[in-house]
Amino acid sequence: MTDYAEELLRVPELLQMDRLLEGQTAVVTAGGGGIGRAIALLFAKAGANIVVADILPDRCEEVAEKVRQIGRKALAVPTDVMDTDQVRAMIAAADAEFGRIDVLVNNAGGGSKRLFVDQSERSWQRHVNLNLFSMFAATHATLPIMIREGRGGAIVNVSSIEGSRACPNFAVATSLKAAMNGFTRTLSLEVADHGIRVNAIAPDEAITPGIFAAAIAPAGEQKVDVGPSKAVEAAAKRRIPLGRYAGADECAQTALFLASKMSSYITGTIVAVDGGTWASSGWIRNRKGEWVLAEVYEEDDA
Ligand SMILES: NC(=O)c1ccc[n+]([C@@H]2O[C@H](COP(=O)([O-])OP(=O)(O)OC[C@H]3O[C@@H](n4cnc5c(N)ncnc54)[C@H](O)[C@@H]3O)[C@@H](O)[C@H]2O)c1
Repeated sequence: MTDYAEELLRVPELLQMDRLLEGQTAVVTAGGGGIGRAIALLFAKAGANIVVADILPDRCEEVAEKVRQIGRKALAVPTDVMDTDQVRAMIAAADAEFGRIDVLVNNAGGGSKRLFVDQSERSWQRHVNLNLFSMFAATHATLPIMIREGRGGAIVNVSSIEGSRACPNFAVATSLKAAMNGFTRTLSLEVADHGIRVNAIAPDEAITPGIFAAAIAPAGEQKVDVGPSKAVEAAAKRRIPLGRYAGADECAQTALFLASKMSSYITGTIVAVDGGTWASSGWIRNRKGEWVLAEVYEEDDA
């Protein structure tokens, strides 16, 4: 393995952001909106050619077009990731187009708000397909390509801080993020000999159409206009140590770190991108800005 530090002494430009993924191919599932879109565009900026797989064809095409404007190649493959045949066909199309896959971002996922007692078995199944089977199928189809090419690779799974924490009304989705974390750790051992690293990012709340828009915004109008209200922002200031929600770009920055050589000795980890909420669990700021335990705060506030 080349010594990256030595390489940097010879070619310091390798540390330039637009060369971190130079010449590589990255596949991003659900890359048409929110965090996936931010990852696709940042990875393109970092030098990668991008395969965008999203259920909405116009979103795929919009992101692919932006990637081309950045100066990289792009392949838009409309894909419903809940259908594993479509996922496998998407990975085969990526291989046929670029002849290599260096980075796979399993970003598709999420859940709908409902108490578990009210959730149907059909809904459990759909959640499993969206969050787990999509990741299994994309990873299973990609690994032989990474191994065949012999250059190693990086898999970045988009988990959630809720994979490590309770989240009432999202019992199934939360349990699937916990499963994603387990898969990340275990797979990292199984593929380490091939130089393939497997990590995850775990956002808490990031401003994306998925959580702050009333409905999915049409492609091309990705700027979220239904963002957090003033009251929600004020609550975030007190609850989140860094005092605000994440931007999708901040999730993308962490994904880029995990996808690039900058993290060449990191595998099997889940990196929280949560503004400190995992660390603060239970602690919030009172109206004076002092840190207090949530229950004490409630008493003081009464
Ligand atoms: N936004 C957050 O606060 C947050 C927090 C924690 C974890 N996450 C995770 O980040 C990931 C992305 O979330 P987001 O908020 O950016 O989502 P989003 O809802 O804003 O965007 C999701 C994208 O997925 C596409 N999509 C939906 N169903 C699909 C399907 N079946 N097949 C292919 N594409 C499909 C949509 O068209 C859209 O472009 C998810 O795995 C989510 O669980 C998000």
